[in-house]
Amino acid sequence: MEQDDDLIGKFERYVNPGLGRALRFMGLNAVEHTGRGALIIDEEGQEYIDCAGGYGVFVQGYQNPRIVARAHAQLDQLALSSRVLVNRPMIELAEDLARLTPGDLQYSFFCNSGAEAVEAALKFARIQTGRTRIISTYGAFHGKTMGALSVSGRDAYRLPFAPLMPDVTHVPYGDAAQAAAVMDDQVAAVIVEPIQGEGGVIVPPDDYLPALRRLCDQYGALLIADEVQTGIGRTGKLFAVEHSQVVPDLLCLAKALGGGVMPIGAVVGRPSAWTFFDSAPLIHTSTFGGSPLACAVAQEALRVTVEDDLPARATRLGHTLLTGLRRLQARYPRTLADVRGRGLMIGVEVPGAGVGGALISEMFQRHVLAVYTLNNDKVIRMVPPLVITAEQVGEVLDVWEQSLQAVDAVVDDLLDE
Ligand SMILES: Cc1ncc(COP(=O)(O)O)c(C=O)c1O
Repeated sequence: MEQDDDLIGKFERYVNPGLGRALRFMGLNAVEHTGRGALIIDEEGQEYIDCAGGYGVFVQGYQNPRIVARAHAQLDQLALSSRVLVNRPMIELAEDLARLTPGDLQYSFFCNSGAEAVEAALKFARIQTGRTRIISTYGAFHGKTMGALSVSGRDAYRLPFAPLMPDVTHVPYGDAAQAAAVMDDQVAAVIVEPIQGEGGVIVPPDDYLPALRRLCDQYGALLIADEVQTGIGRTGKLFAVEHSQVVPDLLCLAKALGGGVMPIGAVVGRPSAWTFFDSAPLIHTSTFGGSPLACAVAQEALRVTVEDDLPARATRLGHTLLTGLRRLQARYPRTLADVRGRGLMIGVEVPGAGVGGALISEMFQRHVLAVYTLNNDKVIRMVPPLVITAEQVGEVLDVWEQSLQAVDAVVDDLLDE
């Protein structure tokens, strides 16, 4: 078997030199081989409880047997679409999404990733309204393609690619009055995550989404909910907008919709936001989007999520993890600044990125995987598969405690660095 260090060396040489060096520096030198439930298993057979969860992908767990079996069956039958004929899994998945999403959300467009879903939603909002302006939020993460990047909220990712898409206004997240202050009748859409994931797991006030809904209605703008990360059970509801009974005009999905097996993205829209397709059915398309393989897998992923009541599991185990972490915060207040979240979407804030890096390394050595949020390197995300067991949650808390003991002793040095 290839030595891990050799393979990381090849990663540096053939894939991404900077990231390879960072992985080596943090000691993240294991090579993933297989997975089961909440566990990722490396080539040496070492098991890790995965609290990074593929940045929120593995809701139904790694290699969920039902989803893998459905993938095998569909693979043997037909993987990709002719693009001339329609296919049954795609249409039935669209029907399932219409049934499961809130309100009158009815139509689905399928693509292959979260960023593509956001791109599609932005284009749909522009053509549907005939307007160009988009309101987004600081700290938002909507993907790294040009349109999605334009509405994302971290300068480090945005500025190197300027000029980006014009007519985008960013406002502080969680404050509807700030959105109202920049709203006018040229706004095509307000795009928002129901909980900001990469921004550092920011849960907005309860009245935030309802207020944005009213604002959009008042000005004839569309409300785009980006549920690429919150979607499919993670926050304790199938869709996070359900916590505030808001029905967006366009709902973006990806990550967990693929059941941890296939890439897929989707935009689900209300009839009133979808009329442009009547006269322009080919205005936005994707060669691979809506493939029988990805859609069959997504259909099974939705079934598993609903039938195994994974949202309830997220609420229950999320509560255990959140309260356990808050207890640790009370004991290690210098090292843990805040613990927050909803369901199994939890963010742990530390006073500096160096402290987070040290904790992540300590946890990795104790076989728990964790990572920063992309737009906020002071927050470690805890987004394990929802199939994680209560016993594994206990192990994760034990590992947090041991890692905190190690890091708390040197926290002042880390903050000085
Ligand atoms: C809320 C949100 N939107 C969009 C994306 C982009 O998804 P992808 O990486 O599949 O393009 C992400 C990825 O983390 C996300 O969290």
